Amino acid sequence: GSLPADAQIVFVLGGPGSGKGTQCDKIKADFECVHLSAGDLLRAEVSSGSEIGQKCEALMKEGKLVPVAVTLNLLKRDMIQSGGKFFLIDGFPRAMDQADAFEKAIKPCEAVLFFDCPEEEMEKRLLKRGETSGRSDDNAETIRKRFKTFVEQSLPVKEHYLGLGKCHVLSAVPPPDEVYVGVKAALEGIKAPKKSSDFALPP
Ligand code: AP5
Repeated sequence: GSLPADAQIVFVLGGPGSGKGTQCDKIKADFECVHLSAGDLLRAEVSSGSEIGQKCEALMKEGKLVPVAVTLNLLKRDMIQSGGKFFLIDGFPRAMDQADAFEKAIKPCEAVLFFDCPEEEMEKRLLKRGETSGRSDDNAETIRKRFKTFVEQSLPVKEHYLGLGKCHVLSAVPPPDEVYVGVKAALEGIKAPKKSSDFALPP
């Protein structure tokens, strides 16, 4: 299988806990899109108990990136199976080799949404979420390692797309509804498909 020729791809990037998932939920309510989170796909793979999942689990607990082929294959499989043509790819690419491999195997992205947030704020959010999330990587030690990976491997991806004029940098510090105002404007700017609004029933 392959994707429709007019498929559009938006990468949703930002540090751990910057609010990528939170904003994607809001986007889904307004726009006709397929949302795929690299982290969610990997956690599903871990839960499945597969051999690949077992290898990923150890890397994720260390805040390290799993091999590029793993995320790329999971994303490609679900993108094609979805039958959609507007995709929000959340948490990917997190390193330049991922960006290059994706563009080669699939196609270049239309735009990038990058959520900018100070480390102290992200840490506070993740430690709070860790109280209830059950995520084995929401603890102080792993959070520190996730930040290190982010700075060393993921920030160059942001710079790359800024250089291409595709990256929208949005402050992720205000409350979610406020952050979303800029997100929505950016997506309208690239003519992302809106959900058809419910029409009123005749009286
Ligand atoms: P992943 O699952 O992608 O985790 P992450 O990037 O660390 O991000 P999170 O999901 O933790 O946070 P988020 O930005 O979505 O924020 P959220 O909306 O939840 O990746 C996990 C691991 O998988 C990686 O470390 C790596 O090992 C592996 N992996 C993933 N992708 C990979 C790839 N491409 N290649 C290789 N390996 C990969 O919000 C966080 C909290 O803050 C929530 O409680 C939320 O309610 C709150 N919050 C959100 N927005 C706001 C706001 N505006 N104000 C106040 N609170 C807010």
